[in-house]
Amino acid sequence: MKLTQTLGLHKHLTYKGNLKHTRYGWLRLTPAYSVHLVSDLLETHKNKNPVVLDPFCGTGTTALVCAEKGIKSYTTDINPFLVWLAHTKTRFYKAEEITAFVEISNVIIENICTAEVENIWIPPLH
Ligand SMILES: C[S@@+](CC[C@H](N)C(=O)[O-])C[C@H]1O[C@@H](n2cnc3c(N)ncnc32)[C@H](O)[C@@H]1O
Repeated sequence: MKLTQTLGLHKHLTYKGNLKHTRYGWLRLTPAYSVHLVSDLLETHKNKNPVVLDPFCGTGTTALVCAEKGIKSYTTDINPFLVWLAHTKTRFYKAEEITAFVEISNVIIENICTAEVENIWIPPLH
């Protein structure tokens, strides 16, 4: 088996495993840990009442897995945007907040779709 085929079998253990997995897919960050990897590792410790310290949270994968499993965790990062993102991903949202978000998102999408603007700048992202 070629190396590329072997790596393809394990892509769910990379950031690719997060892309279609609820909040884990909110931001595509190549060095992010996989939710599946973190979840499997924490399963082996779940009966030991662990407390997790992740001083390099990145997109907050470890903190979010801990929150879902009811494991206490502490996390931070040198990058303030990633601290904000991890906080946003791990917090609880009331139904009314989600409804308000959906409503305002629909207004924004509607305005974008009906805007008659020429020469819209599109960032060079793939
Ligand atoms: C491999 S990424 C972590 C990815 C994370 N586990 C995830 O799932 O998204 C490493 C992180 O360490 C952070 N970092 C690097 N140097 C740091 C430092 N001195 N103190 C705190 N965080 C640091 C980076 O900003 C980066 O987000």
